[in-house]
Amino acid sequence: MKKLKIGVLISGRGSNLQALIDACADPAFPADIVAVISNVAEAAGLARAKDAGISTRVIDHRQFDSREAFDAALDAELKKSKAELVCLAGFMRVLTDGFVARWRDRLINIHPSLLPAFTGRNTHERVLKAGVRFTGCTVHFVRPEMDQGPIIIQAAVPVHAGDDAAALAARVLEAEHRIYPEAVRLIAEGRVRVVADVVRIEGAAAPGAILVNPERGR
Ligand code: GRF
Repeated sequence: MKKLKIGVLISGRGSNLQALIDACADPAFPADIVAVISNVAEAAGLARAKDAGISTRVIDHRQFDSREAFDAALDAELKKSKAELVCLAGFMRVLTDGFVARWRDRLINIHPSLLPAFTGRNTHERVLKAGVRFTGCTVHFVRPEMDQGPIIIQAAVPVHAGDDAAALAARVLEAEHRIYPEAVRLIAEGRVRVVADVVRIEGAAAPGAILVNPERGR
């Protein structure tokens, strides 16, 4: 099977990277990680990649005079590795419009909310403050505006009474680890198209159930 080559950009813990590594360990998974790049030398995710025998590279943004120069270095490294799809996985740098344009519809991100709600940082704190009953996570194609772009897959996660941000983050993270590999699989299988900036997925099935929170009698 010809596998889609993916490059993963990280800045920290790398638990989503781990979910992708674990998915790629299955010989039947249609993608392979060819490069992991971090802008932070101490990122724990680098050790996860090394343990899996994946080539890693640190590109420290502080060594560059401009965002353009940093992004050019990222771009060069990704091209060298022959990456065909770039996955942002907790990558904490804003990318330039030029980089985003070069990788248009080949650059995806995971965000811990049901976009377009709750873009930006401190998501879970703001979710709790808003009192919404459901939150979730989203994998989307990247556009120049932060946390915007055609949505590929989402998971809905209930907010529980008594949740704090850490408890909610942990519940959402579990869902992230399910949907990120699934998004990559759909793309690698060639089933994802962007039409008028909306994603169409060949053969996609939506769940039939309506979820209500709180449930009656609880
Ligand atoms: C995740 O919550 C992801 O949605 C957000 O940053 C966090 C990264 O976590 N973009 P990890 O480094 O993948 O563990």
